[in-house]
Amino acid sequence: MASEPGLRIEQRPLSDGARSRFPALRDAPGTVFFDNAAGAQVPEEVLDAIREHLLRRNVQRGGRYDRSQAVEAMLGEARERVASFLNAESPQEISFGLNSTSLIRMIAECTRPKLRAGDEVVVTELDHEANIGPWLRLEASGVKARFWKIRSPGARLETRDLEELLRSGRVRLVAMPLASNATGGVVDVAAASRLARKAGATTFVDAVHFAPHGRIDVQELGADFLAFSGYKIFGPHMGFLWGRLDALRELKPAREFFIPADPPYAFEAGTQTYEGIAGMLGAMRYLASLDAEGSLPRAMDRIRSDERGLSEALLTALADVRGLTILGESDPGRAEARVPTVSFAISGFDPARIVEHLASRGIQARDGHLYAPRLLEASGIDPKTGLARVSLCHYNTREEIEKLREALHALSSRNT
Ligand code: ALA
Repeated sequence: MASEPGLRIEQRPLSDGARSRFPALRDAPGTVFFDNAAGAQVPEEVLDAIREHLLRRNVQRGGRYDRSQAVEAMLGEARERVASFLNAESPQEISFGLNSTSLIRMIAECTRPKLRAGDEVVVTELDHEANIGPWLRLEASGVKARFWKIRSPGARLETRDLEELLRSGRVRLVAMPLASNATGGVVDVAAASRLARKAGATTFVDAVHFAPHGRIDVQELGADFLAFSGYKIFGPHMGFLWGRLDALRELKPAREFFIPADPPYAFEAGTQTYEGIAGMLGAMRYLASLDAEGSLPRAMDRIRSDERGLSEALLTALADVRGLTILGESDPGRAEARVPTVSFAISGFDPARIVEHLASRGIQARDGHLYAPRLLEASGIDPKTGLARVSLCHYNTREEIEKLREALHALSSRNT
């Protein structure tokens, strides 16, 4: 690498150093893992942290001895790290749970008593079903659910369409994604939250799909609640809930009498999967290590910038495949509007057959409804067949994208 004065020093891609830290990638050199949306792989330090917890400290917090106090200290550090990951005002705003699905259900159920018949909640056509179903269930209490619809082309959510929905003056809550797990499109949550707040509505953000791809600044986003999951950010499966303290304090989750009424404890079970939280702390340490000075927000910016290049390369490669159409933003010049998750169809081929063909060439991808059947239906796609999806993250490479291009070329040329 050049180091003469005046010459720009190119940063090496993150994948160069990262891959060797992931046994699942390091020990399978011929395999291309493009199914990160279904579970990113885990670096060794995550396993070390889980092992350390289970082998040396597997006990409830709150005891008057060092082992239990070490669990308490680990939980405190985990809350601080997640607060820094999100730029939350305080670690008290962070609760841990089983997964995002159960946290969304909990917040929806705690919201129910605050709503009256005739009130409205807005859900989007772009979301994972986990951030639609729990809000629709509020309809049993006389609440009306209204859909913020996608626009074509690109399956985008336009802020002006939310503005229209808010005109009713009855919207009390808006649930939306930060990025779609099907299209990879990023939503302008900051603009949507501003509008919702002006209209007196609370906002809930599903950040599960965006979380491994870039910096999340809850203060900039201006929402009230946000959830994400460990299995997409290189950790074990678990869930995180962030809420503004005053918004959290307005809710009354079910809890046993010995659980404090104040956040974060009110939103947590008395005993948690502490090994999962320890592993997630390992994942946060891994992410921070991607920045030379250990800054989590800067590490996430670095990931976002690296992945923009991956999105460009991926969209360019896919544009080269005959008969391939993308659901979502397909312009490589607009890679900043997405994360490198791309769902597509190839005319004449069943998505299951495309993904089987890729698997036969060592490329692991996914097909089906992608947990977003309403998005597919709204886009004229039968959720039973669905789409093929590739989902990349910072440890993937351009060489892997080239293998994908070659494999899809080989498939599409069979149709001649
Ligand atoms: N929600 C995960 C996905 O998109 C499982 O694959």
